[in-house]
Amino acid sequence: MREHLIDPMAKAPSKTMLSFHEAVRARRSFREFRSEPLPHATLLELVEDAQWAPSNCNTQPWSVHIVSGEKLSQLSALLHAKNDAEEFTPDFGFDMGAFYGNYSARKDEQGKFYYESLGVARSDKEGRRRAAALNYSFFNAPHVALLFMPSFGDNVRVAGDIGMYGQTFLLSLAARGLGGIPQTALGFFAGAIRGYLGISDEFKMLFGISFGHPSENAIKGPRLGRAPLSESVTFHG
Ligand SMILES: Cc1cc2nc3c(=O)[nH]c(=O)nc-3n(C[C@H](O)[C@H](O)[C@H](O)COP(=O)(O)O)c2cc1C
Repeated sequence: MREHLIDPMAKAPSKTMLSFHEAVRARRSFREFRSEPLPHATLLELVEDAQWAPSNCNTQPWSVHIVSGEKLSQLSALLHAKNDAEEFTPDFGFDMGAFYGNYSARKDEQGKFYYESLGVARSDKEGRRRAAALNYSFFNAPHVALLFMPSFGDNVRVAGDIGMYGQTFLLSLAARGLGGIPQTALGFFAGAIRGYLGISDEFKMLFGISFGHPSENAIKGPRLGRAPLSESVTFHG
């Protein structure tokens, strides 16, 4: 098979990278970017790193579309129009009402953090709508990676593989001092995106990642914390 011929160590990174410890902690969801595009060589390094993500039976079920430049501006206009018209074409549901207990509390905390960081009051419905619509401007990032996958059975295992890919991509950005934001919101218009990019119906879209250089403002901003380990991890034996 072709991929067996690829040497994982063939290419050295083009510049000094953060350590693993630093990169994991430097990664966070940036929602403000500088407009300048990344060099094509950097785009290639990112996808070369992400290609090493693990997957069930090494199926490597990711099909990744990176959109930049004028094509990205046009996609943004299309998504804003679809969002304004509420013409949703998702491949997968997203029921935030199903969250309960700790999960629901964490979702509420994240919502509060997000709208407060944008200076939008809880009662300001229009402000919240405008803030959510920033997803469709890709938060002004110069690139978006749209993560598509084939559909197998209930898709849970495939979605896990796409998550592995997404995190590897995000850590590759972080290690280079770059940043991104994973966006389920883009998946709400999977059908429209497929039509715009001429992607076969065989492929379903899980989420996208807008990315580039985070703005100074975003880098300086606060970040969300995490629950204590005791809420997540149990050691046995
Ligand atoms: C699969 C996935 C989808 C997400 N979708 C969105 C989204 O549509 N819009 C958004 O603003 N943030 C989105 N996020 C970002 C989360 O809100 C964020 O990861 C979480 O609040 C933790 O913050 P941190 O990434 O800064 O550590 C998504 C994250 C993941 C992993």
